[in-house]
Amino acid sequence: MTLFSSYPAHGAASTRLRSVLAALATTLCVSAPVWAADTTPAEQLKRWTVEAGVPASADRGKVFFNAKHGGEWSCASCHNAPPTTEGKHANTGKAIAKAFTEVAKVDKWFRRNCKDVLSRECTAAEKADVMAYLVNLK
Ligand code: HEC
Repeated sequence: MTLFSSYPAHGAASTRLRSVLAALATTLCVSAPVWAADTTPAEQLKRWTVEAGVPASADRGKVFFNAKHGGEWSCASCHNAPPTTEGKHANTGKAIAKAFTEVAKVDKWFRRNCKDVLSRECTAAEKADVMAYLVNLK
């Protein structure tokens, strides 16, 4: 179940829930990862495919990922092509194709990166296509 899928619509509740979870994580002495795994790439793909209402296309996702969309950057500028290798961007650190384990993180970075590259947020169909592309790289 995608616990945070409605976030930030339920902002206050989610924030409260998240601090409870954070406190719990500390109590349990887990080496407190900032991002707790609560999803998988396949779940993300399903989520956006459902939202988009059309089947995702890995081919479209690949074109989208490598295109500059009229700006200076493509997703591949930072994430490499294919994005299974270490990203070029110093902070990217690891290959994003192996990530996608936390809903809030995926949402945050899709929002931020799409604005950087396209000067707008990505549509559900675009995100589904990118996920189909990334999932199929494995
Ligand atoms: C300016 C550099 C840059 C560009 C351009 C960029 N990204 Fe990112 N992206 C990052 C960084 C840095 C992270 C954070 C990596 C981390 O913390 O593990 C990230 C993370 C992500 C994540 C989260 C992965 C996860 O672990 O859940 C997704 C999804 C993502 N990017 C998709 C895209 C898409 C799609 C595009 C093109 C529209 C794009 N990015 C373009 C730098 C970039």
